[in-house]
Formats: sequence, structure tokens, C-alpha cells
Amino acid sequence: MNKIIAANLKMNLSYDEIKEYKKVIENSNINFIIAPSNIYLSEMNSNIYSLCAQNGYYKDDGAYTGEVSFKQLSNIGVKYSLIGHSERRHIFNETLEDVSNKITSCIENNIMPILCVGETKDERDNGIAFDVVTNQIDTALSNKNIKDIIIAYEPVWSIGTGVIPTMNDISLMHNHIKTITSKYKDDVKVLYGGSVKLDNIEDISKLDSVDGVLVGGASLDPNNLIEMSKYM
Ligand code: PGA
Repeated sequence: MNKIIAANLKMNLSYDEIKEYKKVIENSNINFIIAPSNIYLSEMNSNIYSLCAQNGYYKDDGAYTGEVSFKQLSNIGVKYSLIGHSERRHIFNETLEDVSNKITSCIENNIMPILCVGETKDERDNGIAFDVVTNQIDTALSNKNIKDIIIAYEPVWSIGTGVIPTMNDISLMHNHIKTITSKYKDDVKVLYGGSVKLDNIEDISKLDSVDGVLVGGASLDPNNLIEMSKYM
């Protein structure tokens, strides 16, 4: 496997299922990036694959009932965190400022952010997809000492819908993202996310501008994820 595969399990799997998931993934000996629910992070710690949070809070500690800080996540061995996933932005009203604060906290706590960006269907139809993504990246990264970061391009209209952009559209946006991020850091890796499955992963991973994928629904079956990794 030459490219990155990150699995976003979202709010899925029971405790028994997650233990089985871990067993199957560890047996594969593949260095995936796995993002389970927070409650499973300790249980899922592994020296085979890398542990990723789906979210965190940017204050280190204090009176923030119900939140988990990046400092705490780092303490239990979390190496990566998704930041600004579209479900956080759209369902939980996470703002550009929240995303920016979270990136800062990740940097301070040695967690590699996987910054999720992407336009809605309306934004694409109105011809502003590139502007939206540029703004999401600039507001998240400007005035920061970016040591390392991964960007996940996830068009909102493609997440969980089975619809993906054309290969040309993916390439155009990934190259655009690489140009913007070069202001902040050289050679930023860009993942594609949104309805990645066994029957489209080969075409997506063949694109030079794609450094990996972020898989949601199709990652819930660990055997399917392992099968997908053969095309990376
Ligand atoms: P999906 O989700 O693969 O189910 O479209 C991707 C994501 O939300 O990261």
C-alpha cells in the first residue's frame, strides 16, 4: 500500500463489534488510519495501525462538560484527528473559527490534523467550489506554524450518497488544494473522501494528485477495507 487509507467509522459499531474490528485489522498488518468513536479510542490503541479521533475540543482542560480535549486524546496515544468534517460543520454548526482553534490545539498537542474541506451541491452549481475550499483552508491554516497536516477533500454532496465527482474534477480540486497549501507547507498530502467504495477506489487511487482516501460507510466492514487497500 503506497497511499493513505483513513477509515471514518462515525457513530457506528457496538463494543463487541469494535473489538472484532480491531482483531481483523491487526491481522491484516496494514497501517490504516482508523477513526472510531471516542469511547473506543483506548480500546483501539494499536501498534499496527494509527489511531485517529473524529473530533476534539480546543481547550486543554477545564469546565467543558461533555467535551474531550486534544491534550487528553494525545495522552492516550491518538496520532491524528479529523477536523471540520462536514457533519461537524453542518449538523453541529462548527464555524470556521472553531476549525481554526482546533487546528491550533492539534499542533500544540502533537496531533496531526486531517482537515476536511469541501463544497455543497449549491456551491458547486454556482461555480464557487474552489473559492469555498480556498476559504476553508486559509481560515484554518493562516498565521500558524504548520508542522504537518493532511487535507481531505470531501464534497458534501458526495458523502454517503454514492455519487462521486468525475476523476477530472477530483484532480482539478486536489491540484488546487496543493497550490493553496504550499503557502503553508511543502508537499501537503490530499485525500479524497465521499462515497469511496470497492468499485471506484481503483480509479480514484490511480490519480497522481490523490495521496489517499478517507472512507466512511465502506470502512465499517473491516474485510472490505482490507480488500480496498489492495488498490492503493
Ligand atoms: P462516505 O463518508 O464514505 O460514507 O461517503 C465519507 C466521510 O464522511 O468521511
